[in-house]
Amino acid sequence: MTAPGPTAEKVTAQQPPWPDPDRLEEIRHALSGRPALIPPEEAERLTRRMAAVQRGEAAVLQGGDCAELFADAAPRVVRRKLGQLRELSTAIRTGLGLPVVTMGRIAGQYAKPRSAPYDGLAGGGRLPVYRGDAVNGAAADPRARIPDPDRLLTAYDRAAAVLSTMRDEQMAHDDAERIYASHELLLLPYELPLIRAAADGAGFASSLHFGWIGERTADPEGPHIRLAASIRNPVGVKVGPSATPADLVELARLLNPERRPGRLAFIVRMGADRIGWLLPPLVEAVAETGIPVVWLSDPMHGNTIRSGSGHKTRTLWAIRDEIAAFHRILRDRRQWPGGLHLEMTPEPVTECVAEAGDAGAAAFPRFRSPCDPRLNPEQAAETVHAFTSLLRAG
Ligand code: PEP
Ligand code: CO
Repeated sequence: MTAPGPTAEKVTAQQPPWPDPDRLEEIRHALSGRPALIPPEEAERLTRRMAAVQRGEAAVLQGGDCAELFADAAPRVVRRKLGQLRELSTAIRTGLGLPVVTMGRIAGQYAKPRSAPYDGLAGGGRLPVYRGDAVNGAAADPRARIPDPDRLLTAYDRAAAVLSTMRDEQMAHDDAERIYASHELLLLPYELPLIRAAADGAGFASSLHFGWIGERTADPEGPHIRLAASIRNPVGVKVGPSATPADLVELARLLNPERRPGRLAFIVRMGADRIGWLLPPLVEAVAETGIPVVWLSDPMHGNTIRSGSGHKTRTLWAIRDEIAAFHRILRDRRQWPGGLHLEMTPEPVTECVAEAGDAGAAAFPRFRSPCDPRLNPEQAAETVHAFTSLLRAG
């Protein structure tokens, strides 16, 4: 008898079913010859800034679209997103009197892990899921949903365009207020060819400043954690309801063996109904290792519900509740509740609602996200204000 093999989920590790392996190989080769999108010094600088967060001397705001669209690489659209990030981080900074490390889910947030391989259609039948613009198209058309490896090159080009707008926009601002680029480290044929050697010979991901590993690919033995371990950039790992204290201890050892402050963040996304009993043993186990980590709250991904009309939504009530529990649990254990990871947009969308009773069909006249529901500007400001008030009171 052979040893039991890994599960299908582990084998595929959320990698899309690319139909043309030869073309995929050509694209990987092309990406390996492209210039770095981010210089390693900028990623190092972010690590130093995250070290201040780890010491409790700064806070983090990380936010943006669930799925960034190629069409939104236009400078006008990017500037609006940067404006929202700046406004919110200024609100935290003035509210707390502390520096804020600002990161967009931007300039490469083009790939999505999915819970199921198909979307059910209202009239019966099914459609392969949308996996982000770097993979396939969001249109409800079976042809659009076929993964296309050439989209990986477009992702690189659009990320370069967005970063160029970010650099232009940064010129009007102090260096301490820099906005960093972050996305989920998901697509291995995109990320691996873009790993470059830094001056000291260590690998670094040249596609981003900060990368995170999603909840579905955070297996300590999986290829994504191996990827994160091989780069020097600051990295995060999403921590969901299935994470055990032993998992987190192992992840902390694998991802921060040198105990570099600012290198590793745990991004907690448990759900308001579960965080109260799931998070305390995790925080305690990690604290006991003495390995420095930054704790962030993603109050979005554990609180997704399906409205009666079939829209994916989230209530502000659950979001605030999860943030409050996160804050209390960390504070009670003498750890710094370092910041927020939000899905948000500067556009006046109607995707999240105040409370579950508001989730009737009429509540979503402007639901535009091809993936998860985002906070609109007022909702994002309210959420940030709630967090800032808790930190100030604490
Ligand atoms: C996301 O951040 O969009 C996401 C899919 O999160 P998670 O991996 O936590 O589910
Ligand atoms: Co999302």
